[in-house]
Amino acid sequence: MDVAVLVSGRGSNLRAICDAIDAGTCDATIVAVISDRKSAAALEYAEGRGIPTRVVPLKKGDDRGLWNDALAREVSSFEPKLVVLAGFMRVLGAPLLDAFTGRIINVHPALLPSFPGHDGAQDALDGGVRLSGCTVHVVDSGVDTGPIIAQAAVPVLADDTAQTLHARIQVQEHQLLPRVIHQIAAGAITLHPLQVHAPAGDPTRALVAPDV
Ligand code: GRF
Repeated sequence: MDVAVLVSGRGSNLRAICDAIDAGTCDATIVAVISDRKSAAALEYAEGRGIPTRVVPLKKGDDRGLWNDALAREVSSFEPKLVVLAGFMRVLGAPLLDAFTGRIINVHPALLPSFPGHDGAQDALDGGVRLSGCTVHVVDSGVDTGPIIAQAAVPVLADDTAQTLHARIQVQEHQLLPRVIHQIAAGAITLHPLQVHAPAGDPTRALVAPDV
């Protein structure tokens, strides 16, 4: 299954997908890595692997409509079956959402619908929850609001900072995201704009991290 990965930062999830592909546990081909930031470390990693990269920058004052059009054009030009947001820090507009309805997924560092937004780990700490985790969900026009595909939970420890909690969550992201991509490629999970179909009791859909 051809996949385009959208990134804004470090790209540890991109690496995890690539590692799973290399290990034969994720039946996908990354056809492009596309970023809104030229400086995203994920781009360098992708280039090192020979994956085509593109940057569609959005600077202060830029026309967002034009940016949305340009982003949709770039992604579409690679004809991916699935678009994966792996640390892409922008809300998508209609052009990309319409071109790939129900075929865009995101990984978020909290157990949605709790703590959407750009600081899931800090918000979970501030909320005083004892469990947090990560969510892979279908992207819609809201901020982290689309149908949930799969989640993994981790404990929140008494001395956690946002960094230590986020690091624990990322260990789970790196397992869950490639698994979900593989299940979509295999047809075990099918996505529709408003619902997710997967076999009842599918173990991909809920993971609990081992004790830490
Ligand atoms: C991840 O924690 C993901 O949940 C969030 O952004 C972070 C990206 O991390 N959306 P990385 O760039 O993949 O390391």
